[in-house]
Amino acid sequence: MIISSTSDYRAAAQKRLPPFLFHYIDGGAYAEQTLRRNVEDLAAVALRQRVLKDMSRLDTSIELFGEKLSIPVALSPVGLTGMYRRRGEVQAARAADAHGIPFTMSTVSVCPIEEVAPKIKRPMWFQLYVLKDRGFMQNALERAQAAGCSTLVFTVDMPVPGARYRDAHSGMSGPNAAMRRYWQSVTHPAWSMDVGLLGRPHDLGNISAYRGSPTGLADYIGWLGANFDPSISWKDLEWIRAFWKGPMVIKGILDPEDAKDAVRFGADGIIVSNHGGRQLDGVLSSARALPAIADAVKGQIKILADSGIRNGLDVVRAIALGADCAMIGRAFIYALATSGEAGVKHLLELLEKEMRVAMTLTSVSKVSDITGDLLVRQP
Ligand SMILES: Cc1cc2nc3c(=O)[nH]c(=O)nc-3n(C[C@H](O)[C@H](O)[C@H](O)COP(=O)(O)O)c2cc1C
Repeated sequence: MIISSTSDYRAAAQKRLPPFLFHYIDGGAYAEQTLRRNVEDLAAVALRQRVLKDMSRLDTSIELFGEKLSIPVALSPVGLTGMYRRRGEVQAARAADAHGIPFTMSTVSVCPIEEVAPKIKRPMWFQLYVLKDRGFMQNALERAQAAGCSTLVFTVDMPVPGARYRDAHSGMSGPNAAMRRYWQSVTHPAWSMDVGLLGRPHDLGNISAYRGSPTGLADYIGWLGANFDPSISWKDLEWIRAFWKGPMVIKGILDPEDAKDAVRFGADGIIVSNHGGRQLDGVLSSARALPAIADAVKGQIKILADSGIRNGLDVVRAIALGADCAMIGRAFIYALATSGEAGVKHLLELLEKEMRVAMTLTSVSKVSDITGDLLVRQP
């Protein structure tokens, strides 16, 4: 199979993964309108083509939170990454490391922090969810700091998990889920061998390390519903701010007023995100939310953005709309599921090449020159 884009990786991942996992990655909340709009709204952003300006020297790198990134992209935190490929967090982190960009470890990873951190050279970022057990949160922050994680990504758009209809149909949850998952595994032998057999333990590594006993994954969706904390407010974030010594980024901002609150609160950055359309369906796509948020807080706080970014052109579009850095979720997971570390490395090379083409044909030689001036103002 020829692979030259994220959609090729998506098709390959669908073949390889048992359906309960493919649809868990691929799906969104309710009717999946926001999921679709994330991609469509970004794709509809027209850039001004400019020519004949000697673009022989391009610099795609940026500096963010004191770190150099070879391209303005970081890997978004994705739960259960180790279920899509054997010890998947390690493989994705190594690919990001090789390309010179950050990997963000999810709270609900299969591999614990201590398994991944020593396998890479640059510090990873750590993503924290608000769980009812605050002892776990403190323990996770202590362990992340001890393992040298540099930036904390604090996700605030998951006080409750969004309803994802596909999960009940695919066997991720719903009636006879365990039996259906078992049958799907048997009928996907390449995945069964790589992850089912050789990728053990299948566990929420960060959580079982704290509890001292395996969590297992039998009722992952039930576990999310029972442990996420809907009482979270800005007040709760204060002790985390005081506790975490490095940069702290709030993930899941879609509204300029919340972005201003993040500035007041002392965050170092925000991630404009609707969780890849997995939480509240019908909310704005990141592409539509970005300009007003940038108007409100650009320059006061770093603006990162994810949800819908599928190629290097999208990275340039997101930055032109107001982001300082883009993040990718599903795109790297499809590549990881297809060919592991090599797949993610290849995807990042594709992204960089596509960025270079976009920069050349819009006549910008460095990332800081990618601004709203690049946008064609449509009526
Ligand atoms: C399968 C899956 C699991 C995810 N798990 C997490 C998570 O554990 N923590 C988090 O903050 N965001 C999580 N997200 C959201 C991503 O970090 C990111 O916001 C989203 O994937 C971006 O949209 P994109 O997939 O269109 O790039 C998850 C997304 C997917 C697809």
